[in-house]
Amino acid sequence: MSEKATLVVGDAHYDLPIIEGSEGERAVDIRQLRARSGLITLDPGYGNTGSCESAITFIDGDRGILRYRGIPIEQFAEAPNFVEVAWLLIFGHLPTREEYRAFAADLTAQADLDENMKHHFEGFPRSAPPMAILSAMINALSCFHPELFELEDPERFRMAAARLISKIRTIAAYAYRHSRGLPFIYPDPRLRYVPNFLHMLFSQPYVQWHCDEAVCEALNLVLILHADHEQNCSTSTVRMVGSSQANLFASCAAGVCALWGPLHGGANVEVLTMLEQIHGGNLTAEEYVRLAKDRDSKVRLMGFGHRVYKNFDPRARMLAEVAERLLARLGQDDPLLQIARRLEEIALRDPYFVDRQLYPNVDFYSGIILRAIGIPTNMFTVIFAIGRLPGWIAHWWEQRQGDGSRIARPRQIYVGDRERPYVAMDERL
Ligand code: SDX
Repeated sequence: MSEKATLVVGDAHYDLPIIEGSEGERAVDIRQLRARSGLITLDPGYGNTGSCESAITFIDGDRGILRYRGIPIEQFAEAPNFVEVAWLLIFGHLPTREEYRAFAADLTAQADLDENMKHHFEGFPRSAPPMAILSAMINALSCFHPELFELEDPERFRMAAARLISKIRTIAAYAYRHSRGLPFIYPDPRLRYVPNFLHMLFSQPYVQWHCDEAVCEALNLVLILHADHEQNCSTSTVRMVGSSQANLFASCAAGVCALWGPLHGGANVEVLTMLEQIHGGNLTAEEYVRLAKDRDSKVRLMGFGHRVYKNFDPRARMLAEVAERLLARLGQDDPLLQIARRLEEIALRDPYFVDRQLYPNVDFYSGIILRAIGIPTNMFTVIFAIGRLPGWIAHWWEQRQGDGSRIARPRQIYVGDRERPYVAMDERL
């Protein structure tokens, strides 16, 4: 055995192998722990537990590093192309010109929804949360493409991935249009991925919405920066559901549900609410920070803190720059950006945040960019899901290709009642 850890329990000693990743991360391999010692480990929230070995994304939370298949995210900022990064995450390499052309053509060809799917939208109340519609309609997609249930064949998998990545835009746009009582706008095969999405969101019948180059670039980069983040809550959910051999659509629909939570992808909505509260004069930035430091207030500085980053989230830095640049290019002066900058300045000087290593995360600035584009707040987490979908697909496929045959089934420590008898109704107090 190479390097090992020794667990001493009473007189018993258990040697456990230490494994090391390609970036030097080390783990105690406990796969045989229960079989050999009868013991399990306990780690609520999995802050100390690795669920898998993965080759997709590397994060160094102490040094603020994020790489997709080894490429630092900063290198995607120049001419950002979400479709290219989606291919990289799923298939492990940057696409050749021919691979890119074929994939982009598939995305264009697959943008429509079956006309019968449109009736589902009409069944939702206009007030329905778009994330509820998104998860429901991704699952509903599988009803129209049963041939994609079985994805052993790589070619079938590639087609299913293209279908999902293309159609998630159409579902998102239709959810938005339905909520506003607007007619659905069909995808335009002449448009590329992001402009086509914005066209479906904002065009009117006979009045085509034109995508400003700065907006197209900004949204491509927003989607890229959300595309994967190793074993976050929603990606772990996709892997968990996929481990039961559930199909790709069901697994990604589950990922949407996990992402919806305000502590995860829903935080970008909470950040805007927080900034608008301060802008509305209810609270000053200083008062809000004071509340966020008071555990009893139940208030958190939304968009701050991260389980992994104990330094700046590199995505937050990049998104802050995108926000500044886009607002300047559009000639917009959004007071919420100044409030965000003020909150960041106050918090980064406050021992409460410094001592807990709480920095802005990906959600702190993203909403300001989406707001500048005209995307409503209740669609922010949907945009996060569109970005994160290639990462979910990549992890689902990596698990399916690996020894992912084992269903994920954590253990527990039972702390309930000891054995006791059933009591007939008449004898109960
Ligand atoms: C995402 O995992 C990923 O990779 C996620 C993500 C991705 O790309 O998939 O990066 C996307 O989900 C980003 C995070 C978005 N959520 C928020 O912005 C919500 C606000 N942030 C927090 O709720 C919190 O920081 C979490 C949920 C992000 C992380 O929670 P942890 O790791 O469980 O940390 P914790 O709750 O144990 O906090 C440690 C301490 C506590 O104080 P003490 O008990 O030590 O006194 O820090 C405090 C917390 O109260 N704290 C905060 C805070 N975040 C943590 N206090 C005020 N404001 C905050 N935002």
